[in-house]
Amino acid sequence: MTQAEDRILVQEYLAHAAEPQPLSDEEKAELESRIKAELKARDAVLVAHYYTDPDIQRLAEETGGCVADSLEMARFGNRHPASTVVVAGVRFMGETAKILNPEKRVLMPTLEATCSLDIGCPADEFAAFCDQHPDRTVVVYANTSAAVKARADWVVTSSCAAAIVEHLDARGEKILWAPDQHLGNYIRKTTRADMLMWDGSCIVHEEFKFRGLEDLKALYPDAAVLVHPESPEAVVDLADVVGSTSQLINAVQTMPNERFIVATDNGIFYKMQQLAPGKTLIEAPTAGNGATCRSCAHCPWMAMNGLENLLQVLERGDQEVFIDDALREDALRPLRRMLDFTASMNLKVAGNA
Ligand code: 13P
Ligand code: SF4
Repeated sequence: MTQAEDRILVQEYLAHAAEPQPLSDEEKAELESRIKAELKARDAVLVAHYYTDPDIQRLAEETGGCVADSLEMARFGNRHPASTVVVAGVRFMGETAKILNPEKRVLMPTLEATCSLDIGCPADEFAAFCDQHPDRTVVVYANTSAAVKARADWVVTSSCAAAIVEHLDARGEKILWAPDQHLGNYIRKTTRADMLMWDGSCIVHEEFKFRGLEDLKALYPDAAVLVHPESPEAVVDLADVVGSTSQLINAVQTMPNERFIVATDNGIFYKMQQLAPGKTLIEAPTAGNGATCRSCAHCPWMAMNGLENLLQVLERGDQEVFIDDALREDALRPLRRMLDFTASMNLKVAGNA
C-alpha cells in the first residue's frame, strides 16, 4: 500500500468515526448508574485506555476495572476473574483481550473504533513483505490486527519495545519491524539494532510539530517535555522523556518540574492531573487547521467510546469481539512471548531493587 493509498483509506475510516453527542450532567449520572448496575449484573469488568473520555476512565476506576496503557490493559484483562471484559479503547485492544482470554466474552462500546496503524498494515501485504525477508525476526507493535500478529514472532508495546529489541539484537537477530515507522526509528536509534521498517504512522502523533514545540519550550524553559515515541523524530529529539502513556504519567509524578509540555493524546491529561494535581500541563502544538486529524492531539477512534454506547453494548451484547480459533492460536504465541518477557523483566527489576 502506498502512503497516498494509506491516507485515502484512513479518511474513509474517519468518515465513520462519529463522536458521541455531548450529554447533560443529569443524563451522565443516569447512564453511569445504569452502567454500574449492568457491570455487576453481568459479571463484567471495564478496562479503559488513558485516551478515552474522562467519564469512561472514572467509571472504570469506580467499578474495580482499570485505566492503563495497552500493555497493562492486556495484563489486567488476562488476570481479572470476570467472565466478561468490556474494552473501551480501539479495536486491537479488544482483539488482544480476546486472544488472551478465549473463554471470556469481550465486548467493546463500538467495534468501529480502529487505528491508523492497523489500517495501514493489511495482513496480506504484510505477509508478502515478511516472505521477502525470511532471515528476519518479525516484531510487530500491538496496534495491529490479529492477522498481522499471527504472522509475527514477537508483539511489543511502546513500554517494552526497546527492551525486547535489545534482547533480540543481543542474540544477533535482524529485525523486520511494523507498522509504526516513528516508534521503529526511535527504537533503532536507541538500540542500534538492524531493523527493516514498514512505513505506517499514527495520524494523531504525526501532527506534533517541531517548530511549534521549540517555540513553546523557549516560552517555558523550566518545563519538561514529554513525548510519545509515535511522534516524528524531530519532535522526539526535543523530549526530556520519551515513553509509553504510563511512562509519561509516571514522569509527571516523579520529576521535580512544576510544568510539563505533553506531546500525546490529550485524553491522558485526566490521569496526569489526578495523580499530580499541583503540576501544570501544557498541550504540545499540532498542525491545527487543515491537519489530517479531525481533532488534533485526540484520537478520533478513541473518542468513539461514550457512555451511551457503553450502556448499549452491556444491554445488547452486540459489539462482541470474535476471532477464529486457528488465527487466535497463531496470534497468541507472539503475544505470550511479550507477556512472559515483561513479567521476567519486572521480576529482575524487583530483584535489583
Ligand atoms: P500505549 O501503549 O503507550 O498506551 O499507546 C497506545 C497507543 O495507541 C498510543 O497511540
Ligand atoms: Fe492508533 Fe494513534 Fe489512535 Fe493510538 S492515537 S489508537 S496509534 S490512531
